[in-house]
Amino acid sequence: VIKYLGSKRLLISSILEAVGGFGDVGSVLDLFSGTSRVGHALKRAGYLVRANDHNAYAHALARCYVEADADELLPAARRLIAELDDVPGEPGWFTETFCVRSRFFQPHNGARVDAIRERIGGLDLDPVLEAVALTSLMEAADRVDSTAGVQMAYLKTWAPRSFGPLRLRVPDLLPGAGEAHRLDAGEAARTLAADLAYVDPPYNQHSYLGNYHVWESLVLWDKPDVYGVACKRVDVRERGSAFNSRRAMREALADVIANVRARHIVVSFSDEGFVSGEDLAAMLATRGEVEVREFDSPRYVGAKIGIHSPAGVKVGTVGRLRNIERLFVCDAREGC
Ligand SMILES: C[S@@+](CC[C@H](N)C(=O)[O-])C[C@H]1O[C@@H](n2cnc3c(N)ncnc32)[C@H](O)[C@@H]1O
Repeated sequence: VIKYLGSKRLLISSILEAVGGFGDVGSVLDLFSGTSRVGHALKRAGYLVRANDHNAYAHALARCYVEADADELLPAARRLIAELDDVPGEPGWFTETFCVRSRFFQPHNGARVDAIRERIGGLDLDPVLEAVALTSLMEAADRVDSTAGVQMAYLKTWAPRSFGPLRLRVPDLLPGAGEAHRLDAGEAARTLAADLAYVDPPYNQHSYLGNYHVWESLVLWDKPDVYGVACKRVDVRERGSAFNSRRAMREALADVIANVRARHIVVSFSDEGFVSGEDLAAMLATRGEVEVREFDSPRYVGAKIGIHSPAGVKVGTVGRLRNIERLFVCDAREGC
């Protein structure tokens, strides 16, 4: 699984417990699916998962971990990944952009990404199998990157892992049905029904598209114009999310909560978000009874590395390293 801010790795057992606690849940809508770790764990636990995220790389991850049916696709996926892993490197747009103009990967690995991505594009694959290949490539590239976990900047000197060769692995596909959607959360809330909605929005101004622009460009493979030291795609500036705006976040979240088509709602929220816990609890109270569960968790990676200027000079201090994660568990049965 790729390194991801706000990934709910440490909260998965608590989320499963909250979902299971209702006793009448068969389907779950994951409105902000990110890495699909949560969706994958829910699918493994036997729920029908409908995953949604507005970014293309997250959509590819959801197709792989939630939508793909291992019973149907695993043999083909194994053959395809083995074939792709044998493709020799051939430098192109990715190498030029992310290994020469910027230094997210070493050129020998960039050339492999270029060649494998071109091969995937030329195979005219079924979209779900293609997403499995893209997930395998993203995760392989993530294992040899030279960042601190976000793509706003790369390390000044090569990370030790970046010297290693890029190797593909077969993602952990699960048997059974599932869905992956790429909608804005507000629209997904209105159109995709489920017994329970899991809501894990961004907490603050850090845009996921800006932080993971390399994956977006790798998946879309539209070779966009880029800007700045990090070589971000130019559309990062236009494709904002209301959930990254101090001004718009409250309304966007209230809209999702008011309109989501589910009998139960579970929301993950940190104590550092633009919306306060009291505010969120009040929004949920309009749908039903709310219970708040608290967990102490390590804080996002930016706090650990301090704040750096584009040249890599430390300009800020290391903030606190732990924060409180909360799960807001709402029984919205009455309102349905
Ligand atoms: C906190 S992360 C989710 C992490 C996920 N639960 C995991 O464990 O990997 C928030 C996600 O919301 C997505 N997102 C942000 N704004 C969105 C919007 N308006 N509609 C849909 N998804 C959005 C981001 O792409 C990001 O993947």
